[in-house]
Amino acid sequence: MAEDHKVTVVGAGNVGSNTARRIAEKDSASEVVMIDIVEGLPQGLALDINQSAPVEGFRSHVTGTNDYADTAGSAVAVVTAGLPRKPGMSRMDLLEKNAGIVGGVVRQLAEHSPDAVIIVVSNPLDEMTYLASTVSGFPKERVFGMAGVLDSARLRYFISERLSVAPVEVEAMTLGSHGDQMVPLPRHATVQGKPLAELVDDSALEELFQRTRDGGAEIVGYLKKGSAYYAPSSSAAAMVVSVLEDRNDVVPTCAWTSGQYGISDVYLGVPARLGAGGVTEIVELELNEDERKQLESAAEAIRAKCQELSPSS
Ligand code: LAC
Repeated sequence: MAEDHKVTVVGAGNVGSNTARRIAEKDSASEVVMIDIVEGLPQGLALDINQSAPVEGFRSHVTGTNDYADTAGSAVAVVTAGLPRKPGMSRMDLLEKNAGIVGGVVRQLAEHSPDAVIIVVSNPLDEMTYLASTVSGFPKERVFGMAGVLDSARLRYFISERLSVAPVEVEAMTLGSHGDQMVPLPRHATVQGKPLAELVDDSALEELFQRTRDGGAEIVGYLKKGSAYYAPSSSAAAMVVSVLEDRNDVVPTCAWTSGQYGISDVYLGVPARLGAGGVTEIVELELNEDERKQLESAAEAIRAKCQELSPSS
């Protein structure tokens, strides 16, 4: 039976509606509120998801709305609002437009659910997470972003495809930014328990990493309009469940750093435990010199971009 928790998903596009559906199917929230500015869209999709409940066997109820009053008292809010990329666009090309959208959304969320944990999915991810934190004024552990779970899942899939094993038999993690400065950790990757580096050579590794960095763009290229949504919604839903069920799973998360890895005061992809109240711990893996440098340069790039954002945008 679903716990008595309310979760809000902002945005009823492909990422938002699939996130709402996956959270409902996992049954860890009693109510999932999906909100969008387009009238009828969240209501219609919510009804459709609810009609799948008897077949799928979940008890969560999905509510579609255009009114933030219906989101009041949410334990978790997932922000997917914003424009997706078109072919040829980088995530950073969305910065200005999505800052306006995400800023407005977060202001209203914070007003109606002052105790919520906010999970940002909108792009450019690292910068939008910073913006959400600034606009909400929430403690940093209650605002974080979804990217590393997705990038790590993509990397795990690509490795599994190359080595003809099941994706769940691959463990791998990426840190850094959701973009060109993603930091893959080959030394921590395993396939059926064996170190990845023993199974593929350096050039194959580099190919796998580059395909992961370009993982979102590859899908945008196929779809022509819009970006990926099945893996992004799986990733966001997994983070929501870890928080709601206070699981404290270690999840690659865009989290606020305060000295971990020698880095402070910037949102950055790092392994974090997610439980009740949000980020309960940032886990410090042992990194070599090169990995540490890559992480630092990702942090500096995010910091520079965040300085272009003003809280009023
Ligand atoms: C992607 C978008 C969601 O990586 O950033 O597919």
